[in-house]
Amino acid sequence: MAHIKKLLDFINQSPTAFHAVASVKKELTDASFTEFSEGDTWRLSKARKGFVTRNSSALIAFAIPEKPIKGFHIFAAHTDSPVFRIKENPELPFEDYIRLNVEKYGGMIVSSWFDRPLSVAGRVLYEDKGKIVEKLVNIDRDLCVIPNVAIHMNSDINNGYKYDIQKDVPPLFARGKKGVYSQLIAKETGIKAEDILGSDLFVYPRQKGFTFGTKNEFAASPRLDDLACVYAGLKGLLDSDSGEYVRVLALFDNEEVGSGTKQGADSTFLEDVLFRIGESLSWSRTEYLKILHESFALSADNAHGVHPAMQNKADPVNRPMLNGGVVLKFNGNQKYATDASSAAFVRALARKNKLKLQDYSNNSNIPGGSTLGNISTAHVSVRTADIGLAQLAMHSACETMGSKDIDDMIKLASAFFSL
Ligand code: CO
Repeated sequence: MAHIKKLLDFINQSPTAFHAVASVKKELTDASFTEFSEGDTWRLSKARKGFVTRNSSALIAFAIPEKPIKGFHIFAAHTDSPVFRIKENPELPFEDYIRLNVEKYGGMIVSSWFDRPLSVAGRVLYEDKGKIVEKLVNIDRDLCVIPNVAIHMNSDINNGYKYDIQKDVPPLFARGKKGVYSQLIAKETGIKAEDILGSDLFVYPRQKGFTFGTKNEFAASPRLDDLACVYAGLKGLLDSDSGEYVRVLALFDNEEVGSGTKQGADSTFLEDVLFRIGESLSWSRTEYLKILHESFALSADNAHGVHPAMQNKADPVNRPMLNGGVVLKFNGNQKYATDASSAAFVRALARKNKLKLQDYSNNSNIPGGSTLGNISTAHVSVRTADIGLAQLAMHSACETMGSKDIDDMIKLASAFFSL
């Protein structure tokens, strides 16, 4: 269980997709990766390591080998998690209470957000000497709570309750006069309220990740989906040796809302970066297509472990256990990109490195969710396998996984990148 504490620290430092990218960027910079901008001309050469961000919430890192290049080895994960987004004009006054006007981002388990410490993080854009600049914000203290209604006034709540997001969810934030929110943001950022021109701010759970169980065999934290895979991809890249493939770590935003943004998996981001690497190395179009043909992608997003309270929702046999190893995901409707060919590649890689794998399929009566792999493959059409870490309580404000699986995922990523 070498990595679980470090993973939980990484998640704790990364309350939003913007912060996750900043955390990854710091580790890459410390490991001598150079930052490139999409607005510049890139001059790349053999053995060059770099990264590029888009919208400050997606990041693609690459490491070009010294040896002749066979293809790209791409490890993809997503930086975002379901969260409550703060709307423009964020204050909802009632008497002299002020609640925050929020809406859903992604599909969370709404009840899990009640009666726990929450705060606000994201980014603001402001004008400074005629230029628009961006600043990350994290109000690093317990700032608001969504209080439940007492059972005496909502006596049926334990029989199932349909949450009215607009009415029930706005977090209780202050007592006082309107304007207290913008004053707080101004104080926290050091930017005058009238200079702030735009913001992407979210209410996030303050719960710090922790391990539990008699042998600390479990871990619980917000945002395990999908920051556990982001962390595994990053560590796998940093732990790997240069082989015959361009190592690519692709971290997309907006998976939880369908990936259809300029920084999501359903954008040209990955395709643009791969093209520019090839262009900078003076590949012809044919060489580029030959290299794509030899390429492989691991799409890493967490998987459902079988829940002891809901065993009938899982497939009768393809039902991952926590600490059972990395999960290989299959789906008849191709919501997961794994097929026999890509499964064979992953199984051979795991066998060679003595890593356990387990298989996941949805129960045939349940449609299941989607992920990055099949969306990304539509843009960059390479052999792809969908993998993940088994977890419980997906999209809760505090999710549960096995403490050991993260080590296996890092080893698999590192072995993949070292080929
Ligand atoms: Co996910």
